[in-house]
Amino acid sequence: MLPAKIALNWLRYLKGVVFLLALLPLARLLVLGVLDRLGANPVEFVLRSNGTSALTLLLATLAITPLQRWSGAGWLLALRRMLGLFAFFYAVLHVLSYVWLDQWFDWHAIAQDVMEHRYLLVGLLAFLLLIPLALTSTDGMMRRLGNRWRPLHRLVYLAGGLGVVHYLWLVKKDLTLPLAYGVVLGLLLAARLYPARRRSDVMPS
Ligand code: HEM
Repeated sequence: MLPAKIALNWLRYLKGVVFLLALLPLARLLVLGVLDRLGANPVEFVLRSNGTSALTLLLATLAITPLQRWSGAGWLLALRRMLGLFAFFYAVLHVLSYVWLDQWFDWHAIAQDVMEHRYLLVGLLAFLLLIPLALTSTDGMMRRLGNRWRPLHRLVYLAGGLGVVHYLWLVKKDLTLPLAYGVVLGLLLAARLYPARRRSDVMPS
């Protein structure tokens, strides 16, 4: 076993590295923007990049608990909250790029767009679900909510599912990527449910 101080320093270093890695998609957008290399439709590029980052980081957050259970590496849990908050950060950037760059805060047009396109409605639901999860992710809120914190945070699977449906419904031709996200989400959910079921099998009823 590593002495506690070395382990703590190592964890701090690891968290710093993950923090910088999670900022890479934003840095990429900024660099491409400055170099004027966001393609023929820069708004769509920014919108899509932030949406993909949000969904990818959401799945990465959900992967932490099964990975920790299988490997026994408790330090992995220290990364979960950071990844979850980065998923929310990119979801906010994604929604902001739609509301600002795509629609110029025209709330009437936005309401109409959402009512006309089911993929937008589902995306909106996913985003609304992520807000209370982000707001209750602090240590203080965890303490205040007590036993209610865990069931509330299971809603992250629903948010992920809605994110995948949002992606599936907006894609017109090649469904490979959204389906791949859906399969990964399904596997993560199964990995989460499996040990819980095994535990309940051995518990006296
Ligand atoms: C109010 C909420 C949301 C709105 C208004 C919204 C809107 C949009 C729009 C307009 C697009 C581009 C559609 C196109 O180019 O045809 C898009 C793509 C996407 N969105 Fe959202 N979205 C929302 C929430 C979310 C959330 C919460 C996630 C993830 C958890 C997400 C993930 C994605 C992904 C993965 C794409 C596709 C990216 C790609 O094509 O590479 N969206 N969204």
